[in-house]
Amino acid sequence: MKARRKSSGSSSHVRFLGSERGRAHQAWFRLLADYYGRINGPDRVRSAYPFLHDLFRRRGPVTSVLDVACGTFALDLPLAERGYEVVGRDLSEAMLAVARRNLRAAGLTAHIAQGDMRSLRLGRTFDAVLCLGTAFNYLTEPGDARKTLRTARLHLRPGGLLVLDLTNFASFGANPRNVRAETDYRDPDGTRIAIYAFNEQDRAKQIHTARFLTLVHRGDQIQLSFDESPLRMWTKPKLAKALERGGFRPVEWWGRLRLGERYTVRTSPRLVSVSVRA
Ligand SMILES: C[S@@+](CC[C@H](N)C(=O)[O-])C[C@H]1O[C@@H](n2cnc3c(N)ncnc32)[C@H](O)[C@@H]1O
Repeated sequence: MKARRKSSGSSSHVRFLGSERGRAHQAWFRLLADYYGRINGPDRVRSAYPFLHDLFRRRGPVTSVLDVACGTFALDLPLAERGYEVVGRDLSEAMLAVARRNLRAAGLTAHIAQGDMRSLRLGRTFDAVLCLGTAFNYLTEPGDARKTLRTARLHLRPGGLLVLDLTNFASFGANPRNVRAETDYRDPDGTRIAIYAFNEQDRAKQIHTARFLTLVHRGDQIQLSFDESPLRMWTKPKLAKALERGGFRPVEWWGRLRLGERYTVRTSPRLVSVSVRA
């Protein structure tokens, strides 16, 4: 009789978390909130502060800042650390939980809470409003972009600054990066994360559909999810028009939140606009 094979004890339990369509990748942010900052480029965080600080000095004075989609507060923390008053809002409680942890770890406090950039009303104004990291692209209904610009305007003093940091889908179209492992990441805590992207663009409708197959391997658990969200493909002329209609005067365009990186339509990864509340 054959000897029974011993279990290695190393097999993993795979759990399919399901698939989500629309809802601005909320399930995906819940799954990845703990790792979002580390996956999504520490370089981005390092270069954003000098960019924003330089901008605020040139076009300020800026001492108070509202980030309407602050996520994990990664880009705001360096501002708060250097004495700016930063107030943060975000739709995702999971991202805000990480933001609170990041603030505690840095020994800082900031007023952060759940909020929707389309309808937020804080009853006060700021010197600058930020909407960074593709958050504006999630607004696929023209009415939602209008509402968000209205929110920004209501929270800015006259002459205050609005900074929008969008994905530049024009450069993505020129260099489509499909189908690929978007991320293959191993965390210091041993967690392994792989994200596969399946993107599709409908140019007539100006919609980019971002789909992610995500695997998170933690201990003996593998969590797998499929998430899909439509994103609006803004071009510089269309964004300029929307800003002007919303009561803003676009004054600067950049290709990334990085000092000196000018915007070029076919190569810039980002479309960054700086506008003054007219
Ligand atoms: C790609 S993350 C960027 C987070 C952060 N701004 C950054 O650059 O690291 C997009 C964020 O937008 C948030 N978001 C999407 N729609 C929103 C809305 N209507 N109001 C507020 N936050 C929203 C998501 O919850 C998510 O945290």
